[in-house]
Amino acid sequence: MEKITQTIYDRIDNEVYNSEGDIWWRPDSVLHLLKTSVNPCRVGYFQRHIQQLGINPQGKTALEVGSGGGILSEEICRMGFKTTGIDPSEPSLHTARNHARTSGLDIRYDHGTGEQLPYADASFDCVFCCDVLEHVRDLPKVISEIARVLKPGGVFFYDTLNRTFISKLVAIKIWQEWKRWAFMPPNLHVWEMFIKPSEIRELLAANNLEWREHRGAEPNASIPKMLGFLRKRARGEWTYADLGQNFGLVESGDMNIFYMGFAIKNM
Ligand SMILES: C[S@@+](CC[C@H](N)C(=O)[O-])C[C@H]1O[C@@H](n2cnc3c(N)ncnc32)[C@H](O)[C@@H]1O
Repeated sequence: MEKITQTIYDRIDNEVYNSEGDIWWRPDSVLHLLKTSVNPCRVGYFQRHIQQLGINPQGKTALEVGSGGGILSEEICRMGFKTTGIDPSEPSLHTARNHARTSGLDIRYDHGTGEQLPYADASFDCVFCCDVLEHVRDLPKVISEIARVLKPGGVFFYDTLNRTFISKLVAIKIWQEWKRWAFMPPNLHVWEMFIKPSEIRELLAANNLEWREHRGAEPNASIPKMLGFLRKRARGEWTYADLGQNFGLVESGDMNIFYMGFAIKNM
């Protein structure tokens, strides 16, 4: 795939993650939807494959690249992995560390970027990178760093947004730009940074990672129903917490908007 230019990267608002205070675990915040609306789908998918691959997480090491406030890292830790999260945002790391402490979870959180992971080669049994690949400055470097820190035979689990006409309409126009329905801050996502499944597969192959599967996920409501939910939120009749209770992703064969997948590092 073509490299993301500086002009395109300048448009994405990754500063959102540096906001002060807890922007992740308050039920009425937009990022909490990662827990209520995205986690059930992606965690279920990853857990199923971890089981099918015969991986017993006890005593195994896992890294989450772009761990934010720890919404996914905590689930990885609960599966039994010795878990590390890494993120460039200090305020998010602060929230993640506090939340893990109050949840009684032993997670190590480090400061850094996916482009330059501060870990030795072959350090982790599994690496997760979810809802992050479409945010990074240098995607090929991030994939090569993930491949480097994975042990041979280790598994890379990911999810991201696809770059299609439908994802532009739904994830950019409806979710972000058209005020009638929008529930995300403008420029949280930039469509040009979305990644086609074929592009990920090319990068995986170039980094000695054997691609195994892609699986789509789509909103659990028809488009008219989803628009109704989002309209209630935009009008102030519903909070983000209400939205999170009613609206979420479910696995499907449709990869037009969102997809998950995994790959195994060759021995
Ligand atoms: C949508 S959040 C996802 C957080 C977490 N993975 C989850 O799903 O709950 C995107 C995260 O990517 C982080 N991020 C942005 N650029 C990054 C980079 N180059 N390397 C690693 N993380 C990055 C942000 O700081 C933010 O925490």
